[in-house]
Order: sequence, then C-alpha cells, then structure tokens
Amino acid sequence: MKFCNVGIVAMLSMLSITVSAAGINQLTEKAAERSKPVIAEVKKVEMASGKIIVAAAEAPATAEAAPAVGADGFTLPEQKKKSTAPEIKPLASDKSPHDVAMAAEKGTLKNPYSYKPMDAGLAEAGKKKYMSVSCNGCHGGNGGGGMCPPLSNETWVYGADDDTLFRLVALGSDELLKQGYTRKGRENVVGPMPAHGKLLKTEDDLWRIIYFIRSNFRGSEANIKW
Ligand code: HEC
Repeated sequence: MKFCNVGIVAMLSMLSITVSAAGINQLTEKAAERSKPVIAEVKKVEMASGKIIVAAAEAPATAEAAPAVGADGFTLPEQKKKSTAPEIKPLASDKSPHDVAMAAEKGTLKNPYSYKPMDAGLAEAGKKKYMSVSCNGCHGGNGGGGMCPPLSNETWVYGADDDTLFRLVALGSDELLKQGYTRKGRENVVGPMPAHGKLLKTEDDLWRIIYFIRSNFRGSEANIKW
C-alpha cells in the first residue's frame, strides 16, 4: 500500500513538471506577444537537441536626430511629437491637383486658407501631408533645405505667389518651364522638381502643404507678398 502511494506521488509530481514546463512555454510566448512594439522579431530557434529557444531581436532605433540648423542657416523650430490638431474642414476641392493646375488660368490659383493670422493647427496638418508624400526627403523636415533648395528663405525660383507654388508642386519644374515659366531666383541647388499633382490626392491637400510652407517662412516680414 505504502509503495503504491509513493508511486502515485511520483507520477503526480512528474505530471506537474510537464504541466509547468508547458506553462512556462506559454508564458514566454505571451511575454513575447506583449512586448511586440519593442521586439521586432521573435525567432524560435530549434536546437539540435530539439529544445526551442526564443531569441528576440531588438528593433533598430529609427528616430533620426534632427539638426538644430537647416541648410538655409536658420534654426529649426522644435518638433512636436504627436499631432493634437483637430480635424479641419476642407475648404478646397477634392479634385486632383494636377487637373486643377492644368485647367486653371494663369494667376488665378489662391489658397482658400487665410494666412492672417497663421493657424498653427492648419500648418501642422499641412506638415503631415508634406511628410506623407516625402517632400522632406529633398527639402528637409522643416523645409530648411537639404539635398534641394530651402522652402523657408526669401529666394523663390519661379515666384513666391500661391499660383506659382501650386503649379510647381503639382506639375513639376520641367512642365513649368515648358509652359513658359523661367527660373528667376537662384538657390544653392539647381535641378528638376518632380511633379506631385498625381501623388497628392486632392487640391485641398496641396493648399495645406503650401500653408505649412508659409508658416515656415524665416525671411523678413517685409518680403511676405502672399
Ligand atoms: C526629388 C527631390 C524633390 C522632392 C521629392 C520634392 N522637391 Fe521640391 N524642389 C526640388 C528641386 C530640385 C527644386 C528646385 C527646382 C528648380 O530649380 O527648378 C524644388 C523646388 C521646390 C519649391 C520652390 C522653392 C523655391 O525656393 O522657389 C517648392 C515650393 C517645392 N519644391 C515644394 C515641394 C513640395 C511641397 C514637395 C512635396 C510635395 C516637394 N517639393 C518635393 C526637389 C524636390
């Protein structure tokens, strides 16, 4: 009888070891699940022994340090981490910026959003669009320039007015030159600006981006002619 009891105890304890091993396995998996944002990859590596070890590869740091000064020499404003801007009702159409630029008569395009006073929420909404189509890849996150001309200084290659900027971004510089526009201003970089009028979905999107560019102007107030 006694022997029998020992047998049962032994069997039970063996069972509990198996159960807890399974439990640990589950726990490790749950922990890996929970820490997903930090851990880019959870690799299960099967060892020769048949044992599975969990190897976690850490996500690479993606945030790049922003320079304190843009290529135009002006200090860059501090970046906000997260948008707190409320939804802003669109004032311009949802037509393609390309179509709008091709159809409108020269000199007639005007930003429907008022620059006076500048609206910080709208500028932020514009910046979001600006980043979403990667204008920053060429012009820098705050338009201070980089590989391409700054958008924040007093030099405007084809002109500073809304109409010209809308056409330049929508149609690109080659098309602008084809339509008879000339390079009046000279920036540190001379090269073609690609058309974005089909990449940007709506006319409204482009006006918001131009609004952001206006909000970022670092030149003299006397030279604000828009
Ligand atoms: C591939 C690089 C590249 C990308 C992407 C790009 N641009 Fe440009 N941009 C240029 C170049 C180069 C010029 C100068 C064109 C010239 O000299 O004819 C320019 C000129 C401009 C100008 C006129 C600047 C001045 O000083 O007169 C504006 C405004 C502008 N870009 C806005 C934008 C916006 C908004 C976006 C995104 C929708 C954008 N760019 C995306 C390369 C780029």
